[in-house]
Amino acid sequence: MKITVVGAGAVGATCADNIARKELCEELVLLDIKEGTAEGKAQDMMQTATLLGFDTRIVGSTNDYTKTAGSDVVVITSGLPRKPGMTREELIGVNAGIVKGVCSNILTHSPNAIIIVVSNPMDTMTYLALQSTGLSKNRIIGMGGILDSSRFKYQLSQQLNCSPADLNAVVIGGHGDTTMIPLIRMSTWNSVPVTQFLNQEEQDKIVRDTMVGGATLTALIGTSAWYAPGAAAAALVESIVRDEKKLFTCCVSLQGEYKQNDICMGVPVIIGKDGWEKIIDFQLNETEQAAFDKSADAVRSMNEVLKTL
Ligand code: 2OP
Repeated sequence: MKITVVGAGAVGATCADNIARKELCEELVLLDIKEGTAEGKAQDMMQTATLLGFDTRIVGSTNDYTKTAGSDVVVITSGLPRKPGMTREELIGVNAGIVKGVCSNILTHSPNAIIIVVSNPMDTMTYLALQSTGLSKNRIIGMGGILDSSRFKYQLSQQLNCSPADLNAVVIGGHGDTTMIPLIRMSTWNSVPVTQFLNQEEQDKIVRDTMVGGATLTALIGTSAWYAPGAAAAALVESIVRDEKKLFTCCVSLQGEYKQNDICMGVPVIIGKDGWEKIIDFQLNETEQAAFDKSADAVRSMNEVLKTL
């Protein structure tokens, strides 16, 4: 198994570190355009191998895609992260060109790869990857919902004073501060609906705090977060390479599902060796479907911006 992570910034390096520690592949390539960055971080990670007990071979490359040839999975994290006060959508002008170039290189060197898109604005970058590669829709997966769902469970665990591991909660829709939809109605604490323990005000606050979870960290740290995004991308890779059939919310191409067409958005999907294998219908109620449609309108308007670049 060979995996490539494109972009050796904080998110990409954290994703690679998680992949290596989990031994998800024999060969892991970390690639960046900045001279020496990927090579240095790859060596630094390799120097943890005896301490952490993994045999993954990590190789760094400065923009030499021949080193990535034949990858089974490629994770795209390259592009600018946001700064405090920015939305993810504001990154489209720079990141679209970067992601398109990366996709072209992937098509040349790893035409059979499953592509995971992390770069923002992620929903639109996933749509761009699908359009520009022409690969099967099942092999193009945007990672946002896994991260947002983890942040949702964190918020719930803080309010309920419980273990996040005991919570089942998902976020669907766009990966934007105003487009994501934490499905609190369906969230459970060891099979008991969380709404049984939270009043409406508490529920509304948890939803609000989840939606701006990324922006909150960017304000604190001064740049986009990386531990949870990197770990979320690695969890997605794990379900693919181990064919775990995990049910995650991922950004995938919709062709009628959830009443949307010709768009990539976060929905519940089964993740296995072939990429995303099946979209699961969560039977949204009217309010949730209306929120999903509104989210789709916002994502679609960003997709339209691609045509102007
Ligand atoms: C985040 O929300 C980077 O979009 C990612 O932290």
